[in-house]
Amino acid sequence: MKVVKTIAEVREQVKQWRAEGLTVGLVPTMGYLHEGHASLIDASCKDNDRTVVSDFVNPMQFSPSEDLESYPRDLAHDAELAEAHGCDMIFNPEPDEMYHKNFSSFVDMTVLTEELCGISRPIHFRGVCTVVNKLFNIVQPDRAYFGKKDAQQLAVIRHMADDLNMNIEIVGCPIIRENDGLAKSSRNTYLNQDERKAAVILSKSLEAGKSLIRNGITDCGKIITEIKSIIDSEPLARIDYVKIVDAETIQQIETLDKLALCAMAVYIGKTRLIDNFFTEDI
Ligand code: PAF
Repeated sequence: MKVVKTIAEVREQVKQWRAEGLTVGLVPTMGYLHEGHASLIDASCKDNDRTVVSDFVNPMQFSPSEDLESYPRDLAHDAELAEAHGCDMIFNPEPDEMYHKNFSSFVDMTVLTEELCGISRPIHFRGVCTVVNKLFNIVQPDRAYFGKKDAQQLAVIRHMADDLNMNIEIVGCPIIRENDGLAKSSRNTYLNQDERKAAVILSKSLEAGKSLIRNGITDCGKIITEIKSIIDSEPLARIDYVKIVDAETIQQIETLDKLALCAMAVYIGKTRLIDNFFTEDI
């Protein structure tokens, strides 16, 4: 497996693979890889002849008050994990390889980015859309793999690919969880021992929401109230949002009469965690 730093090296390698008639999958990541990322690499290796993992902490998707500097990084660990799962090339550029000093073009999206995480992270999705667009242009994959944990991101990227006529299949992969239910995330490393125990409240409250739905409740207000009351019972937890939205448009709905996404962002101490379920997965 190669670890490359420049766009030219990626292009050269992909050109060779294309000349051999091989298909290419892309797994975009910000590194600090865990089993969630490994499942995306597995899915890509299954569907494609070659798999590229991008490993880049994208400054453009962090606001000045967020954790860009402290975001965990470990390229040696990432290379080991990615190779063990069959990755063929890691693209690990420096920020100035991705954003030269006169960089001034952005990919922006309205509507889908204005709900959920878009409210407390107003510049986030512009940064995500711009970097993912760049990665798509650099690698030109047949397919790209994203986790359902970042459900709004997945909807935004699917929508972008459709709006901008990108000839790339966007594949959403299931959330991978710890044994106690906590969704795997690079940010879980910020949690101290007490916070780690408290963080289970996210998945626990979602399970309670699912159980109401299984019992025939379709009133989104009732489901959200139940979920919020469970989270509020945990002293270390502070809710940013708990909402139920149309899974495609990311607009709030009152009644479960279409494919829906129940999503939350909750602070455990200072760490903001997200989790969700799609009603199709209940
Ligand atoms: O999900 C992530 O890790 C990032 O948002 C992504 C898609 C790699 C873009 O930087």
